[in-house]
Amino acid sequence: MRIVAGRWLVAWCATAMAAAAGIAETQTPIAARAVLHADQSGPTIAPQIYGQFSEHLGRGIYEGIWVGAGSPIPNTRGIRNDVIAALRHIHVPVVRWPGGCFADEYHWRQGIGARAARPTRVNTNWGGVEETNAFGTQEYFDFLGLIGARSYVTMNLGTGSAQELADWVEYLTSASRSTLAQERRRNGRDAPWQLDYIGLGNESWGCGGNMRPEYYADVLRHFSTFIRLPAGQAVSRVAVGPNADDYHWTEVLMANAAGSFDALALHYYTLPGGDWLHKGSATAFTESDWIRTLESTVHMDELLTKHEAIMDRYDPARRVALDVDEWGLWHDVEPGTNPGFLFQQNTLRDALAAALNLNIFHRHSARVRMANIAQTVNVLQAMALTQGEKLVLTPTYHVYDMYQVFQGAQLLPLELDAPRYQYGGHSVPAVDASAARDANGVIHVAIVNLDPGRAAALTLRITGAQSRGVSGRLLTAAAINAFNSFSAPAGVQPVPFGGASLQGDLLSVSLPAKSVVVLDLN
Ligand code: AHR
Repeated sequence: MRIVAGRWLVAWCATAMAAAAGIAETQTPIAARAVLHADQSGPTIAPQIYGQFSEHLGRGIYEGIWVGAGSPIPNTRGIRNDVIAALRHIHVPVVRWPGGCFADEYHWRQGIGARAARPTRVNTNWGGVEETNAFGTQEYFDFLGLIGARSYVTMNLGTGSAQELADWVEYLTSASRSTLAQERRRNGRDAPWQLDYIGLGNESWGCGGNMRPEYYADVLRHFSTFIRLPAGQAVSRVAVGPNADDYHWTEVLMANAAGSFDALALHYYTLPGGDWLHKGSATAFTESDWIRTLESTVHMDELLTKHEAIMDRYDPARRVALDVDEWGLWHDVEPGTNPGFLFQQNTLRDALAAALNLNIFHRHSARVRMANIAQTVNVLQAMALTQGEKLVLTPTYHVYDMYQVFQGAQLLPLELDAPRYQYGGHSVPAVDASAARDANGVIHVAIVNLDPGRAAALTLRITGAQSRGVSGRLLTAAAINAFNSFSAPAGVQPVPFGGASLQGDLLSVSLPAKSVVVLDLN
């Protein structure tokens, strides 16, 4: 689609939308300027930044992904067809499994072989419900094959042993005729699976064992030793990283165990209410909650910058990655649902927070080589919600859809000069953006207007490239808390964007208030 200027229409829409949201509309748009250096290129944006996390938690795996082959819900070998289609569409590159806190109490042998013979355990972390182990190793790898994603298996360093880890690795990866490889064949899988990432415990500073970093560094060195892969195979060893701003954790691990891991995994959740006891509603919130959520979201940039500075001292060549294998907005559960199931709705606010985080990950691509949003279906900031046979795609899903052009693209330096959006003593940049060039030479620019009441006019000068046309997609809604429900599943979804125009090396973009835009410059 070739874009022609349609600013009066965008401005009119913005006014109408802000009015509907009950937020005071200001007619003067925010003026922002940027320079895009298309003649310089940065690191590759690892596709794995678009990764997912799926834990045995609530209705995430059971109902959300796995319904069993006998279910009336259309499925492939027990896995929901609608979920497969949705995740294939956004090219999910990797799925972290089986936890989370669940991983440090998971014993892999209970999830292999005939399903009827698998033991039922209690999921002690998440609601005390029965865990049938119906979804285990072979179901996970089948799911990955169906959606075309890489594997990321988190090992049990909490209640498991180094022997248990070594056996699971052999069961998964050995092409030999060892007893474990033969057992895999009897369970229906001849060829070894591809193990791409191996997690060495989860939150060992908390639910994974309440360890001090000095102690975990030794446990990590111990367990990591027994990852014995067949010749020619490689796996990325992901160590438990810091809890948000625990810089001491990063320092100790880099100083004492850096040879035992290839990535350190940061966990950081945005808590809209500010703390774990007051997380706040996913759908009933004010402009004050909106700005505090976005402010807490952009804090990710500071966390990455400071952890990277520590890593740079020990690893200036950047061999070790800083992955963010749990992140997202964590709200109160939906009223009337099991508190242990972490089921929450997902609004335009979640979509903007996702876009901001992805822009931040792009900018930190030199170190951040994987990120896994929590969690794929029905849990926390999910891509999709299910109710029986119904499935609804969330606003966050649509951001992943719009942003998938950035997977594997080369980051382009972008200098942005934008005023701040302020409210109630809080303040964030009013506009955020990132840019990259894909393998076909197309430049993509993602722009977020964080202000819920003002349109933004961005003038972007492009150096070192001549583009002939611009097209794009826009995600916004009438209200800051708009969401997709089972009765109205298409309330928030991307539409073609008519607010960008090119004149020579100048790109002019008129963004509605509270919106995300992804442009393609040909
Ligand atoms: O994603 C939910 C939980 O949050 C995970 O199990 C745990 O690792 C984190 O605290």
